[in-house]
Amino acid sequence: MINTLSRSPHSFLRVFAPAKINLHLEILGLRSDGFHELAMVMQSVDLMDELEMSNRKDGEIVLTCDDPSLSNQSDNLIVKAAELLKSQTGIKDLGVNIHLKKRIPIGAGLAGGSSDAAATLIGLNNLWGLSIDKVKIGELASCLGSDVPFCLEGGTQLCFGRGEILEPLNTLGGTISIVLVKDPSVSVSTPGAYGRFKELNASRYLENEAEFAQRRKKLRSASWLSGIVENRFPPLRNDLQEVVENETPAVQRALKVLRELPECLVVAMSGSGPSCFALYESFESARKDHHENMNDFKEAGLESWCCSFHSQGVTIDT
Ligand code: C5P
Repeated sequence: MINTLSRSPHSFLRVFAPAKINLHLEILGLRSDGFHELAMVMQSVDLMDELEMSNRKDGEIVLTCDDPSLSNQSDNLIVKAAELLKSQTGIKDLGVNIHLKKRIPIGAGLAGGSSDAAATLIGLNNLWGLSIDKVKIGELASCLGSDVPFCLEGGTQLCFGRGEILEPLNTLGGTISIVLVKDPSVSVSTPGAYGRFKELNASRYLENEAEFAQRRKKLRSASWLSGIVENRFPPLRNDLQEVVENETPAVQRALKVLRELPECLVVAMSGSGPSCFALYESFESARKDHHENMNDFKEAGLESWCCSFHSQGVTIDT
């Protein structure tokens, strides 16, 4: 149990939960826990969900959402995060109403659910006046999902292990922006994508810690990580892209449309997909391509967004 004596709780909080994209997702091998050992660079973007939280004194955790397609029951990561945090305190009366304004597309490879879970941990730690320390919040986050620890701090980070071992990097650049697209009728199963990758590539997996360490070192020293300047933009590697692209026409369409955008630098799928993004040196050039190609996105059955790199993860607006 955690010591819950602390600063005075709030009665209402608004918490922002940004999406992420993967600038680099490299699958190194298989771990003894069945997860994959990864070497990634994750980047927050300023497309954000908003969670409004208000205290209840009857111990109930009640989630409502402006998107009726999303479950508000115990399978939702927000409810799981709230229950997990509450279980650490032993206080039965702790309750909350959470209203989720969903902006990040669901099942998209943008960590929307993971970021909501991270926002719930940080928000309720404040709302309930718990003062649980950062290390413990990080541990709880990794119990909820591999991407949740990144979403707490966000910005630009190297992510190793399952994705939960974080090494913050200098933000790559305030002006870097993206055009993001996703077919709203398609979602990709993350376990399915990793499972398919394993079927096709397990014979080539690295097998020991020394080899993993060598790959981590190589990624840490990549020149593009020190900032994006001319001709040194991220090469955008995503090992899941090939398997998901081969089997998902919506990803093929998304990548084709993005590759035709005149001003974009590079194009990739995010996470296990199906959302894909094009990278730009400035918000103006991203906005121009987004605006001028809106009809092409629509004709390809894609929803689209224009947003920028964001230097932080979850934030509270009291
Ligand atoms: O941790 P998270 O719930 O996001 O993982 C979803 C699924 O993705 C896991 O059950 C696993 O099948 C796969 N995965 C993996 N290796 C990772 C992260 C996720 O195999 N590092």
